Amino acid sequence: MGAAVRALLLLALVAAGAEALSLDVHHRYSATVRRWAGLRTGPAPGTAEYYAALAGHDDLRRRSLSLAAAAAAPVPGAGGPLAFADGNDTYRLNAFGFLHYAVVALGTPNVTFLVALDTGSDLFWVPCDCLKCAPLTSPEYGNLKFDVYSPRKSSTSRKVPCSSDLCDLQTQCSAATNSCPYKIEYLSDNTSSNGVLVEDVLYLATESGKSKITQAPITFGCGRVQTGSFLGSAAPNGLLGLGMDSKSVPSLLASQGVAANSFSMCFGEDGHGRINFGDTGSADQLETPLNIYKHNPYYNISIIGAKAGGKTFSTKFSAVVDSGTSFTALSDPMYTEITSAFHKQVKEKRNQADSSLPFEYCYTISAKGALSYPNISLTAKGGSIFPVNDPIITITDISSTPVGYCLAIMKSEGVNLIGENFMSGLKVVFDRERLVLGWKSFNCYSVDHSSKLPVSPNPSAVPPKPASGPGSSNPEAAKRPSPNITQIDAAKPSSGSSIHLHFSRTFLFAAIAPLFLAIL
Ligand SMILES: *[C@@H]1O[C@H](CO)[C@@H](O)[C@H](O)[C@H]1NC(C)=O
Ligand SMILES: *[C@@H]1O[C@H](CO)[C@@H](O)[C@H](O)[C@H]1NC(C)=O
Ligand SMILES: *[C@@H]1O[C@H](CO)[C@@H](O)[C@H](O)[C@H]1NC(C)=O
Ligand SMILES: *[C@@H]1O[C@H](CO)[C@@H](O)[C@H](O)[C@H]1NC(C)=O
Ligand SMILES: *[C@@H]1O[C@H](CO)[C@@H](O)[C@H](O)[C@H]1NC(C)=O
Ligand SMILES: *[C@@H]1O[C@H](CO)[C@@H](O)[C@H](O)[C@H]1NC(C)=O
Repeated sequence: MGAAVRALLLLALVAAGAEALSLDVHHRYSATVRRWAGLRTGPAPGTAEYYAALAGHDDLRRRSLSLAAAAAAPVPGAGGPLAFADGNDTYRLNAFGFLHYAVVALGTPNVTFLVALDTGSDLFWVPCDCLKCAPLTSPEYGNLKFDVYSPRKSSTSRKVPCSSDLCDLQTQCSAATNSCPYKIEYLSDNTSSNGVLVEDVLYLATESGKSKITQAPITFGCGRVQTGSFLGSAAPNGLLGLGMDSKSVPSLLASQGVAANSFSMCFGEDGHGRINFGDTGSADQLETPLNIYKHNPYYNISIIGAKAGGKTFSTKFSAVVDSGTSFTALSDPMYTEITSAFHKQVKEKRNQADSSLPFEYCYTISAKGALSYPNISLTAKGGSIFPVNDPIITITDISSTPVGYCLAIMKSEGVNLIGENFMSGLKVVFDRERLVLGWKSFNCYSVDHSSKLPVSPNPSAVPPKPASGPGSSNPEAAKRPSPNITQIDAAKPSSGSSIHLHFSRTFLFAAIAPLFLAIL
């Protein structure tokens, strides 16, 4: 898009924002999820088992990253940034495969779903007219009760025929007017979803001003049969694809002109985050171009250098920015260069007590007080510095006392992945229109005042402190020092408007889990 056209679009966005109405959204379901997210399930955070479980997910993701899908470039959209009608909050739910989840509403009357957010796949699906779906209630879900979708029960539901452009399995149709079938296989543990494509309205809310709920028609999978992880630990209530392909939710919103062809995700250090569709970023963000190939659906960037403490490298490699991976994984020579330079500058004693840990460089915390590990940053194509706010994980004993730490970079045999731990403390903008990745240090609880778009704070959207956060007895300062980061050129968020959830500090490197790659 030319500069003039872009300026015009921005003007239109500003105008839309200025007349936007205030939100009157229903947060009851969100509040339940939020409380539940604070409860501890699975291996205790910080323990070796916990990191081993996370790394296992990542391993699956890496092995799956060899497949491809066609990229599409939908028409740019207009309108202010949008959130799901239940708000733009995302929650890292460790009990559900460490994925990030959001609450979405679909259909008339609306039904709400707690869906996994995945930048590594495209199709959105929810459990629907179930032949085989995850249970709707379970002791593992706490007091959450899931719903299913049914086209027959929604007055706005429409069939997607085999003749639709979005129908990939046309060869399996006996007639062009039949419902389009879909089947997605994900490589983790024979995990899949299949059913038919349907169209219905997705409820979205404008970010700024007063209440304005938008209904966007969205094509998604009516998932009648799920297998593998979808019956157990991951995405029990649906999965929302955020990839580059034409079937992903950002692509559909942009092609209809509902939102600009860009979205942002904020990765809070405590596991709380944000997602906003149509967010084109801010003037003060740093950027790098996306490498786009026809058969490459990923958010792929070029790294031209790295820094570990006082040592700089001019190493060049490409990496996929993957919110579906917990820990950054690099292949050699970058892996060895960066990790060994880090190691040479660490003062603490090396420790390899627990072989179940997937990390090569671990250290014993001996004395009390601040750790002083070397800073790590990457330099992206164009020269922008990508700061790594949380390169380490802290290992705790069963009483949550920190006993050691590891450099949380895994060795990859193939693809380089910038995982969620490297995005901690950043707002990342996936600008599919300009084909750039943008980022800035950001507190996910703040309003981005430097945004190109007017945003007014909505007090009802500020999450309250959870009733039972596992971290309530763990003062942050005792867990680990505040990381001494490479500053980027970004305006500091106003601290007055931020409220922190007191999750255990050890939650911060946990992540969205893995995998979920579509083989269509
Ligand atoms: C989205 O997040 C911002 C903080 O980044 C918040 O101020 C705003 O109210 C949120 N909007 C909605 C719709 O929840
Ligand atoms: C969903 O339906 C309920 C009534 O069942 C209504 O109160 C609520 O506003 C609806 N949500 C949206 C986003 O339209
Ligand atoms: C996947 O399914 C195949 C055949 O049904 C089976 O042989 C294989 O062990 C399964 N893999 C896993 C990880 O469950
Ligand atoms: C990322 O882009 C580079 C080209 O710059 C390409 O060689 C590489 O295969 C891409 N990686 C993936 C996983 O698609
Ligand atoms: C970073 O380190 C410098 C010097 O070591 C120190 O003065 C500064 O306060 C540190 N910043 C943070 C955020 O800890
Ligand atoms: C980390 O980076 C900060 C800011 O650039 C710097 O002040 C500090 O000295 C660095 N810390 C170490 C241990 O290198």
